[in-house]
Amino acid sequence: MTESNMETVLHENRVFNPPAEFSRKSHLKSMDEYKALYKRSIEDPEGFWAEIAKELHWFKPWKQVLDASEKPFFKWFTGGKTNICYNAVDRHALGPNADRKAVIWEGEPGDNRVLTYKELYHEVCRFANTLKSLGIGKGDTVAIYLPMIPELAVAVLACARIGAVHSVIFAGFSAESIKDRVLDGRSKMVITGDGGWRRGSVLELKSIVDKGVADCDCVEKVLVVPRNANGDRFDCDMRDGRDVWYDEAGKDQPDECPCEELDSEDLLFLLYTSGSTGKPKGIMHTVGGYSVYTYLTAKYVFDLQADDVYWCTADVGWITGHSYLVYGPLQNAATIVMYEGAPNHPDPGRFWDIVDKHQVTIFYTAPTAIRAFMKWGDDWVDKHDLSSLRLLGTVGEPINPEAWMWYHRKIGKERCPIVDTWWQTETGGILLSPLPGVTPTKPGSATLPFFGVDAAILNPDGEEVETGLLSIRKPWPSILRGIWGDPERFKKTYWCNWNGEYYFPGDGARRDKDGYFWVVGRVDDVVNVSGHRIGTAELESIFVEHPSVAESAVIGVPHEIKGQGLVAFVLLKGDDSEGSDALRSELNAMVNEKIGKFARPEKIIFCADLPKTRSGKIMRRLLRDIATGNALGNVTTLADPSVVESLKGKYKD
Ligand code: WTA
Repeated sequence: MTESNMETVLHENRVFNPPAEFSRKSHLKSMDEYKALYKRSIEDPEGFWAEIAKELHWFKPWKQVLDASEKPFFKWFTGGKTNICYNAVDRHALGPNADRKAVIWEGEPGDNRVLTYKELYHEVCRFANTLKSLGIGKGDTVAIYLPMIPELAVAVLACARIGAVHSVIFAGFSAESIKDRVLDGRSKMVITGDGGWRRGSVLELKSIVDKGVADCDCVEKVLVVPRNANGDRFDCDMRDGRDVWYDEAGKDQPDECPCEELDSEDLLFLLYTSGSTGKPKGIMHTVGGYSVYTYLTAKYVFDLQADDVYWCTADVGWITGHSYLVYGPLQNAATIVMYEGAPNHPDPGRFWDIVDKHQVTIFYTAPTAIRAFMKWGDDWVDKHDLSSLRLLGTVGEPINPEAWMWYHRKIGKERCPIVDTWWQTETGGILLSPLPGVTPTKPGSATLPFFGVDAAILNPDGEEVETGLLSIRKPWPSILRGIWGDPERFKKTYWCNWNGEYYFPGDGARRDKDGYFWVVGRVDDVVNVSGHRIGTAELESIFVEHPSVAESAVIGVPHEIKGQGLVAFVLLKGDDSEGSDALRSELNAMVNEKIGKFARPEKIIFCADLPKTRSGKIMRRLLRDIATGNALGNVTTLADPSVVESLKGKYKD
């Protein structure tokens, strides 16, 4: 956790009550109601979740709500048969909400598309039939590398519909990252696009995929979706026998396709995320529990009502896009807004223009975006009418009280509650958050646990403390089911503390006298750059691949806009301790190539030595002290204390 964060939130004592008018109309209206439901959900989780699950469609009811017999491999709603696509699409398309808008899409150049639930249903069916016609069926993994166009949501839902496992790869990842993910998940197909707009230029996704899958024996087909719905295509190389245009393969497919009746514990998707060691891990989520949990959290945290227009700015490539752009809101028959491009294209008022134009009522974004808007200036906000907004949310990293207050005043005009939602790829859904009609909020706090979430702050000995490690005692329905292909890593990463009785998310937090949680950041070697998780070990292993590099240590440091930035200390072979700008560029190019631009460090510092203990362990804590200008912690265990002084000098330069 960063100390500056800790400092600020320790002194934060403002409280904002939910506006009475908001509470009056919301699903949940009072603290008493929350407390009673929460108590019930903790005392009788199975009864609680069974009741909620009944609000969704099941082809066959479950036999057991929670099966903990193979802890920590929990199972939910075992014996039940369902399909999340049915709950997100069919239920509405075949009922009274058929003509309700499901997706309002805006392209970066300003083009729009709207799909009603009925239209979405037919699009998903057509896509599902296309997948089937290309040999995809239940249990096959399909990698998806698409820009933020409606077909991204459609492709995800189509996979879910036929029981194929989707593995979405954020379209900012490099060819090498695609390769790692495709091989690890044994993807049989990759769905990509001929292009997508980002800051005025076209992303050439297809050529990146071509490079990525060149050596992937598992890939049989590459399905290419044209970015433009009007038949115009961007140029791309198509390989005979492997590559197929979606508009050709899909045009004569029937627009009806039955939903596969899936087991509650059938795999729904893999989503790769970074940890403190090794390569990114394929987080596994299954159908039943994930459906129930994303449905209920979306309903209560965003207070979704029939006339809401809900916009989550996250890309579907991240968990937020999965749970709270696609599955959660659609299961609630919400109207979602999806935007293709950059927040500052053609100017920094773009988001507010979209809010105004589409009359967005609920807006969910990341603190890093809020801080960028603050920097771009209030004028861009003031040009637009934001009166449609009624609720704001944040996710992905701690929000500093200053950004919270700006969001509250400038965007929410002091009348919209803010839900600061804490959760992770692994948790599948929101675990800590205010409920907007219920919970008084404090800037910087994710406040209280959601129903069924038994959260505590513990020290390493398992005692409850005020400041320490965040932990969750009971499993909740959308808890990850494992790490793909690595059950041992799953146990070691999340269940190694406290005799395996608690889930350990890797975050540090504090709890105040009102029981509010203040999550301050990771306690492991994962850095959160603009809300994107990056393992420092991933970067370190890239740098040592360079022939001139002997060793490296990467740390996270506070960053004004990104929340955290990366700093790399690089030890060169031989006696060169100066390096050069050319070498710096080469290392940056390696990061581009192996992960993606977003993982590039803010600073690369070449050095003669790294601070190590006598047993040879790099003391990252000291590197962080050097980078943040803090007084150095204990240096007595250092093998060579003079190293630190020389690094301090270098860092300043
Ligand atoms: C951090 C994103 C503070 C946290 C949904 C977590 C947060 C990691 C918050 C997960 C929040 C997410 N306040 N920190 N409201 N939300 N985090 O897997 O460190 O991309 O462990 O999931 O982001 O990132 P992930």
